[in-house]
Amino acid sequence: MVSLLELTLQLSRASDMVSPELNHHQRLVAYIAFNLGEELCFDEKKLNEVSVAAILHDVGGLSMQERIKVLKFEAINPHQHARIGWLLLKDYREFAEIARIIKFHHVDWNRGGGLRFCGETVMPESHLIHLSDRIATLISRDDKIINQKDQIFKKIASASGRKFNPDYVKAFEKLKEKEFFWYDLESISNGRRYYKKINFKDQCLGIDELIGITKLYARVIDFRSNFTAVHSEGVSAVANRLAQHLSCDELTCKKIQAAGYIHDIGKLSVPTEILEKPSALTPEEFAVMKKHTYHTYVLLNQVQGLEEVNEYAAMHHERLDGSGYPFKLTGKELSLGARIMAVADIFTAVTENRPYRKGMQKDQVINILKNMALDEKIDAGIVENLITNYLDINIARINAQKKARTRYVDFAKLLV
Ligand SMILES: [Fe+2]
Ligand SMILES: [Fe+2]
Ligand SMILES: [Fe+2]
Repeated sequence: MVSLLELTLQLSRASDMVSPELNHHQRLVAYIAFNLGEELCFDEKKLNEVSVAAILHDVGGLSMQERIKVLKFEAINPHQHARIGWLLLKDYREFAEIARIIKFHHVDWNRGGGLRFCGETVMPESHLIHLSDRIATLISRDDKIINQKDQIFKKIASASGRKFNPDYVKAFEKLKEKEFFWYDLESISNGRRYYKKINFKDQCLGIDELIGITKLYARVIDFRSNFTAVHSEGVSAVANRLAQHLSCDELTCKKIQAAGYIHDIGKLSVPTEILEKPSALTPEEFAVMKKHTYHTYVLLNQVQGLEEVNEYAAMHHERLDGSGYPFKLTGKELSLGARIMAVADIFTAVTENRPYRKGMQKDQVINILKNMALDEKIDAGIVENLITNYLDINIARINAQKKARTRYVDFAKLLV
């Protein structure tokens, strides 16, 4: 059993890692929103939804520039990333309400006119996140946070009624007098432990639910770029089929499928500016890219019950001869699932169509895989199995990626 909350926190953390400037931004906003919600006597359900929505509110900021741009108090066109966040999350049943909150988290109060936006109702939770978000962006790292409280309040109060619901600003006026609130913000932004835990309602996920949420994560991970738009879907399908052909038990096959969906979660820390760079990466950029599996491991390692999935997911760039990264593990240290994932990742990368090239044909693919097996990079037995079942595995990949591509195209259309 895996905690939905733990998993959600890691997705949030991953997307805040794209730049040090973000400095735990979504966590800070969640903490502020939760405390303000309490001041405003929000009921438990509302408090929970506002906190979870706040934890993910900027997940639609696909590029690093976009994320940094909206940190400005008077951000220009802030609605785009809010809308993308909604698009990414809305189809997952558990997040449907949360997605609606996120969609409007930059709508100004506009003397009450902000209760509607573009013909739709804006929920109070969205306005609360808007205020919390702006409080968070006013925090400077140049001084102790508590020393900034009056200055922050002054700036917020000056926009009361125009940007923010005046009742919420009043709640902030009360909250700002509680020292622990500022101490906690300081601790959160330093990654330290803090006094008041947010009281989230959690949910335990069984394996099929885990597959559902990791599939959603695949979308968040892949849709940041047209180049990677369907990659994790392909890897997941291939790895799952390979595991079946290698006679893994049903539960293991499902864990491998889930691992395929999130094997690149660490890539959320890689700016799209690097993911989409048309020319060769500089050594510094390559170093950022290479670190993604390390991040995958560290993020998933925080989630209890996900140990095996992590073992399969995070080792996909390790090689049997110890020449992979980041742990330099060798063949005997790599589980069957990890070895399957490495083959699935390479197979998918070379066969899938990318915007700038067509996927390779069978002979060429087999050649590459066989040579890598001969060089003791990847498992020869798994490669043999893949070749025997080539058609079936490739069809599974094509079908999964076709569906994902249709979804991506629809998604991309809605962005304009
Ligand atoms: Fe935002
Ligand atoms: Fe934000
Ligand atoms: Fe990768």
